Amino acid sequence: MNKQRVLVARKVFDDVVDHLRKHFDVEANERDEVWSQDELIRRLQGKAGMFIAGGEKIDAALLDACPDLRAVCSMAVGYNNIDVPACTARGVLVSNAPDVLTETTADFGFALMMATARRITEAEHFLRRGEWQRWSVDMFAGADVHGATLGILGMGRIGRAIAQRGALGFGMRVIYHNRSRLAPELEAPLGARWVSQEELLREADHLVIVVPYTPDAHHLIGEAELAQMKRSATLTNVARGGVVDDAALARALRERRIAAAGLDVFEGEPQVHPDLLTVPNVVLTPHIASASIPTRRAMANLAVDNLIAALGVGPQAGRPPTALNPEVLARG
Ligand code: GLV
Repeated sequence: MNKQRVLVARKVFDDVVDHLRKHFDVEANERDEVWSQDELIRRLQGKAGMFIAGGEKIDAALLDACPDLRAVCSMAVGYNNIDVPACTARGVLVSNAPDVLTETTADFGFALMMATARRITEAEHFLRRGEWQRWSVDMFAGADVHGATLGILGMGRIGRAIAQRGALGFGMRVIYHNRSRLAPELEAPLGARWVSQEELLREADHLVIVVPYTPDAHHLIGEAELAQMKRSATLTNVARGGVVDDAALARALRERRIAAAGLDVFEGEPQVHPDLLTVPNVVLTPHIASASIPTRRAMANLAVDNLIAALGVGPQAGRPPTALNPEVLARG
C-alpha cells in the first residue's frame, strides 16, 4: 500500500522527520524557507497531513484549496494561527502541543521579568559601548523582584508555573486575573488571589501576560490600561503579539509612565515596532520562550505523535494525544 503523504512546513530535528518517514511519504523543508500561502497550498496538494511550527496560517481558503488534507499538527501550544472551526467543519483534525513547554516557558517568562526589573540588558549595552568609567550609587538601580507583587494576566498552565516560581522561590505576593477563577486547591499553595483586571493593573509591581490570543484579547493592554499601572511597575509579555498595543507601550516606556517592559512577542513579528527599538527600558527577545533544546524536541515529537495517530497509523492510531477537535475522528 502506498504511504500517505505529509508536508513538514519548517525544518525540524532530523530524527523527528525520520520518525515520520517510517509511516509516511514526507516532503520536508530542508532549507527552512518561510513559504508563502500560495506555495504552501501548492505543496499541500495530495498531502493528507501537515506538521507546522506555529506561524503558518491555516484558514478556510487554504483548507478549500487542499481537499486531501485531514490533519494539521502544530508543535506550538498557541493556535491562533489556525481556524479550528473551519478545520472541524471540513473534517480536518487539529492538534497543538500543550504541557511539554509549560515549565520551560515559565522559566523564560520569569527570567524576562527579572531581566526587565533589574535592567540587565540595558546595563550590558552600556558596558559593551565602553561607557562604564566609574561606579555610582544608582547606576542601573531597578526594582526588586523578591517580596514584590506579581500580577499574572491569564492563569493557565504557564501562568500558574510562573506564579509558583514567584510565590515559592521569591516570596512574591501573587494576584491574577483570568476569566475563570482557579479552584481553591490550586490557589492555596500559591497564595494566589483572583482580582479584577483593574485591580491587577493597579496593584502589580510586575505584570506578566500569559493570556492566549483571541480577537477579544486584541490590545487588551493599551493606552488606558497602561495608565492604570504604577509608574514603578514592569510589564512582561510572553503570550502573543497583539495582546499589547506595542505603539502605546513604546510611548508609555519613553515617557516613563511605567518603568520597563520585557517582550518576547510582537504585533506583526518578526517585524518589531520601530519605537520599541529606540527606547532603552525594554528587554526584547525574538519569540524564544519555549526554546530549550529538550523542550523544542518534546514539542516536535508531540506534533509527530499527533500526526501519526491522526492519520490512523502507529500505536495510538485514531487517538492523537492532544487533539483540539477530536470529534472529527469520532465521526469516522
Ligand atoms: C509559542 O508561542 C507557542 O505557542 O508554543
